[in-house]
Amino acid sequence: LRQIKVDDDDFGLLAYDPAFKNTANVRSDVTFIDGDAGILRYRGYPIEQLADNSSFLEVAYLLINGELPTQDQLDGWVYEITHHTFIHENIKQFMDGFHHDAHPMGMLVSTVGALSTFYPEAKDIGDADNRHKQIVRLIAKFPTLASFAYRHSVGMRYAYPDNDLSFAGNFLNMMWKTTELKYEPDPVLERAMDVLLILHADHEQNCSTTTMRTIGSSDADPYSAAAGATSALYGPKHGGANEAVLTMLEEIGSVDQIPDYVKAAKEGKFRLMGFGHRVYKNYDPRAKVIRQLAHEVFEVTGKNALLDIAVELEKIALEDEYFVQRKLYPNVDFYSGIIYQAMGFPTSMFPVLFAMGRIPGWLAHWQENLLDSEQAIVRPRQLYVGEGERDYVQVTDR
Ligand code: ACO
Repeated sequence: LRQIKVDDDDFGLLAYDPAFKNTANVRSDVTFIDGDAGILRYRGYPIEQLADNSSFLEVAYLLINGELPTQDQLDGWVYEITHHTFIHENIKQFMDGFHHDAHPMGMLVSTVGALSTFYPEAKDIGDADNRHKQIVRLIAKFPTLASFAYRHSVGMRYAYPDNDLSFAGNFLNMMWKTTELKYEPDPVLERAMDVLLILHADHEQNCSTTTMRTIGSSDADPYSAAAGATSALYGPKHGGANEAVLTMLEEIGSVDQIPDYVKAAKEGKFRLMGFGHRVYKNYDPRAKVIRQLAHEVFEVTGKNALLDIAVELEKIALEDEYFVQRKLYPNVDFYSGIIYQAMGFPTSMFPVLFAMGRIPGWLAHWQENLLDSEQAIVRPRQLYVGEGERDYVQVTDR
């Protein structure tokens, strides 16, 4: 493109594409999305099949290694992750140092970054065994950091990992355990937690994954890159939409208020949260799975008025010409917030749960980027629109 010039002084052709809306800056074989058809596949496997049949750790293996594991490989992988869930006691002290009302996501960002100081060998990103070790550690330790952050924010004693439990069961135990006895999650909630993690495990080049790849492109260690990706997810435009859905459903208050609310949204007064997606111009396939999951969870936790409002709002919007014409369908965030709330999570934990699910995707992309011979340190160009050259003016003369 640099060769395409009008004259010798011309810089050459430069693509200007704010927010990379139409630019692919990587080639990837991790995740496929067809937004018009409403298709999402991890390594070729449809998300619906993975949600129905797989487990979060199996999906993590698939994303990172490219293939579903054999039984032996799966057993080995689960064993490795399970036995890397503990964190250094000094990280616990680090956690203790946060202000009493610190946001769990802020604590997660900081402690994930701090892990890089505990594993200095992680810098050797060229060594495959070393990369594997850090990948295992990151997937294993995220739930521990997440639950410790929650417990700190509510002033509860930390609950240590329990290696006898499943990945999701261990996390729920670390979250809710209140006595010396094990917390025994309802199997429906334990499975729901696992499926929610599967649904969030990857979504190709979203903001946080792009951040992970970008930081990784300078050969930074994966803990520092994951802290950056977690920070990207902290932003309300990325990890905060399901909280906005809950606020909206509470604001609507009852099913009979929905028509007026939808009318105001159509008049452009505000947007229906949890509707529409930059990529999906069809039903978000994750939302379909989550909608079913919501009903199963509410069977256990008891009915919640917000679910009735959500179901009716979806029905009304899907039949409305405004939403049909603009291809606005429920996205993954539409039902996830009400499920998390029903399971007892405060809204401040919603982006933390997202990060816990997304870490295998971040790591799969981080590794893919490192191994791609066409990749280099990310360094976009810019369109300079500032002043031309001018002479310095002494402060007394300005
Ligand atoms: N409610 C009402 N109208 C909407 C909505 C909505 N949720 N979303 C888009 N529209 C309308 C716009 O007003 C616009 O109408 P117009 O053509 O008459 O001006 C048209 O649909 C197209 O909107 P864009 O903003 O161009 O669509 P884009 O694809 O850029 O936006 C986005 C996608 C940002 C997700 C948008 O649909 C939105 O704001 N949704 C609500 C917030 C939300 O749920 N975010 C979570 C996304 S999922 C995730 O990030 C994990």
